[in-house]
Amino acid sequence: MIRLAHFSDVHLTARPLGWEPEDLFTKRLTGWVNVEMLGRGRRFRFAPQVVAAMRREWPTRKLDALVFSGDATGMGFESEFAAASHALGVDDDGLPPAIAVPGNHDYYTKRATKSGYFEHYFAPWLKGHRLTTDTYPFARQIGAAWFIGVNSSTVNRWTWDASGAIGSEQLRRLRRLCQSLPPGPRVLVTHYPLRTGRGEVEPRVHRLRDHKAALECAKECKISLWLHGHIHKAFLLKATQAIPFPIVCCGSSTQQKRWGYNEYTIEGSVCRMTRRFYSQEEDLFRDAEYREFELG
Ligand SMILES: [Fe+2]
Ligand SMILES: [Fe+2]
Repeated sequence: MIRLAHFSDVHLTARPLGWEPEDLFTKRLTGWVNVEMLGRGRRFRFAPQVVAAMRREWPTRKLDALVFSGDATGMGFESEFAAASHALGVDDDGLPPAIAVPGNHDYYTKRATKSGYFEHYFAPWLKGHRLTTDTYPFARQIGAAWFIGVNSSTVNRWTWDASGAIGSEQLRRLRRLCQSLPPGPRVLVTHYPLRTGRGEVEPRVHRLRDHKAALECAKECKISLWLHGHIHKAFLLKATQAIPFPIVCCGSSTQQKRWGYNEYTIEGSVCRMTRRFYSQEEDLFRDAEYREFELG
């Protein structure tokens, strides 16, 4: 039996952000307008408090692992990565081992991506088995299960483009990595979803662009469970004939009124999931929903 906590889309920020002149020619400027004037900042204004509450309760939840499915920051500033990794306890040896993948907000600009800020500040959560020198994909064994971290985020030029892709090269490496893994449940971790909560492909500007190839690859890799974020509202899709494994979207752990994270207990082929929802009045989490489903 293994127990894990899955959280996502914490979108932590920092003051001062550390603007540089060239940022004015990137989508950071329109992104900043969105944060400061169009309400995005308001929806995440309690994020540090919610993250602190998660950190307080994790040691009491008997967890074997943490899974973070990306969007640590708002606009991929180095100051935000430093604040987010500190708040989440990336260097805290008292926390269980963690697996993380970057979100599109962590790859907000070409410079943020090329600088490797996410990979630097979240390095302890990117430890694992790799077949090549590429950071992604990687696999980490926790108990009998394998957690496989895949990067599905790309640098996008326009503010309105929040799409992502895994890419054919990484999918090829993922196939080889999965072929090399010993038996045991395989939990795939990405930022991007395969489907919406209604089981549909996401709108073009928000979707995983290579979702068809990703699904074929996940089937070949015999994935048991797919965990992701990006959509800020949590949902579960049980296995079907077309998609033979369950998919869980964690939603945003810190967005006002949606805040929460998931706990999973995996035992044999069964997964029991509890949604822990944040109570602002009490500044702690309470059980909100319980689901039980078969792994793929
Ligand atoms: Fe997000
Ligand atoms: Fe995202």
